[in-house]
Amino acid sequence: MAGAMRPEPGTLDEGALKELIAGELGAVRERSHGLTTEVLDEAGLTAQVSPLMSPLVWDLAHVGNYEELWLLRAAAGAEAMRPEIDGLYDAFEHPRAERPTLPLLPPREARAYISAVRARVLDALPAVRFEGGGPLTAGGFVYGMVVQHEHMHDETMLATHQLRKGAPALLDPPARVAPTGPGPAPEARCSWRRGRSRWASPTTRGRTTTSGPPTPSTCPPTTSTSNP
Ligand SMILES: [Fe+2]
Repeated sequence: MAGAMRPEPGTLDEGALKELIAGELGAVRERSHGLTTEVLDEAGLTAQVSPLMSPLVWDLAHVGNYEELWLLRAAAGAEAMRPEIDGLYDAFEHPRAERPTLPLLPPREARAYISAVRARVLDALPAVRFEGGGPLTAGGFVYGMVVQHEHMHDETMLATHQLRKGAPALLDPPARVAPTGPGPAPEARCSWRRGRSRWASPTTRGRTTTSGPPTPSTCPPTTSTSNP
């Protein structure tokens, strides 16, 4: 959570830290939806593009199930919401190659489930003790773990997008430069490669990254990439 304009969690009182946590939870969820239900239809979300990757809808429900396990059951002491689906989204129980054969939640249901989890997490957050509540919640530790876990799966989802065939689903963000003719100016079309990208994690925003959407063929090459 480090950054020039980002408060350091260790410097905040509990109320401010909980506000920061709520904001980080919201930001990562926006990113997850932007990689799944906002850009692909049901067929795209349930397809497996490679045996090395999960269907995107598995990642989506998995992050919500993980959040339920840790932030509701472990941190807030809540009862399981959907205990019958825990095994489906246990990464150790089912390797990626077999996940398409599981009776996964359909995309609409997966989104409803993770949204319901999130609503309960935010409802419970004010009452969770960060001091004197044990190591799991001390300093908001488990919340940071869950936020990082979802960002990690967002990176996995980006890799899945890169392996998809056909037209890319992740389109350029809205142009920041006023177009000078029909369609966006070339600089605007390519600007995501050099500037902030809503697909980037908070730690990669502002830097060139290969984790963004596929590169338009008309964009000039950049030199600072971390992967071939
Ligand atoms: Fe996971």
